[in-house]
Amino acid sequence: MNVPFVDLKTQYQGIKEEVLKEINDVLDNTAYICGKKAKKFEEDFAKIHNVKHSVGLSTGTDALHVAMHALGIKQGDEVIVPVNTYIATAEGVSLCYAKPVFVDNDEKTYNIDVNKIESAITPNTKAIIPVHLYGQPAEMDTILDIAKKHNLHVVEDCSQAHLATYKSKKIGGLGVIGTFSFYPGKNLGAYGEGGAVTTNDDKLYDYMYKYRQHGSIEKYIHDIEGHNYRLEEIQAGVLNVKMKYIEKWTNMRRKAAKLYTETFNSLGIEEVVTPWHPEYVDPVYHLYIIRVKNREKLIDHLNKNGVQNGLHYPLPLHMQKAYSHLGYAADDFPVAKKYADEILSIPMYPEITEEMIQYVCGTIKKFYL
Ligand SMILES: Cc1ncc(COP(=O)(O)O)c(C=O)c1O
Repeated sequence: MNVPFVDLKTQYQGIKEEVLKEINDVLDNTAYICGKKAKKFEEDFAKIHNVKHSVGLSTGTDALHVAMHALGIKQGDEVIVPVNTYIATAEGVSLCYAKPVFVDNDEKTYNIDVNKIESAITPNTKAIIPVHLYGQPAEMDTILDIAKKHNLHVVEDCSQAHLATYKSKKIGGLGVIGTFSFYPGKNLGAYGEGGAVTTNDDKLYDYMYKYRQHGSIEKYIHDIEGHNYRLEEIQAGVLNVKMKYIEKWTNMRRKAAKLYTETFNSLGIEEVVTPWHPEYVDPVYHLYIIRVKNREKLIDHLNKNGVQNGLHYPLPLHMQKAYSHLGYAADDFPVAKKYADEILSIPMYPEITEEMIQYVCGTIKKFYL
């Protein structure tokens, strides 16, 4: 059996007619950028996350940059970022010439370790960016308490966590700004690039709305210096179709994750650690991450047996050449360093079948026999 890591084709087959109609509509109307479809998308996307506003953007990385910029983050400022995340989280900070300050990950959730945040705060710290990594909300109450005590902004990086909930509240409106990616493989993915910010703050919304279009609301009148971070109409049309199904697809991911965990438990493989989350968060399983022994040989075995897999992420940010100038040592973040050698992402998408999940778990079981 072959089990792909993600399967965007099967999903597309189910919505093909609706998507093609949206794309044709854009071509017929010759309105290609930030038109009616983007407006509808912004309204509906804000609604499904229970926030007042959303601004459609070109990518999730741009969303992080816009958010940092809107909060006035600048050279000399520091922003706390988990060391275990995709590089874009830190790039959002560097793009404002500020300094990302890394914090190790929690041993059980793999999200930012909230017990290590305060020791990373200095007089220059202006914000914290918790990432709801792999689709699992970070420990937001503690983060918000720390932020309040030290007068810091909280920007949630929700790129992997559309519709996830923390204590029954949707992510994206817990901090002052939420940032999202619609990279094709994301839980809500465009057929190209896309991103968004969410906020309940009217002033920040106005600023970010303008910023994404050269600081302009009225054509050729520029209130501020901005950027071109606009969402394309074709992508907004695709996202509008997909948004109708996102809740259903999210529940399918949750069901698949539950089946993975139950199957691993019933097989009793001691070498595999399955994901853990506190009962008050409801993750959306952008990725299903296990930790394993003898990983490189297991990867070989999976590849030989048709089970695609991935590493998220093979090298924590403090060990990346791109951030060598920050002067961290490899052992500064022992949990992230150790886990980078143990984590393994196995196939996860709404359409994955029960048989595929049984096959993946069975293939792993055979390796450890
Ligand atoms: C946690 C995280 N933040 C930010 C991004 C950046 O999003 P994009 O690829 O849309 O720029 C991604 C996805 O790639 C991500 O996974």
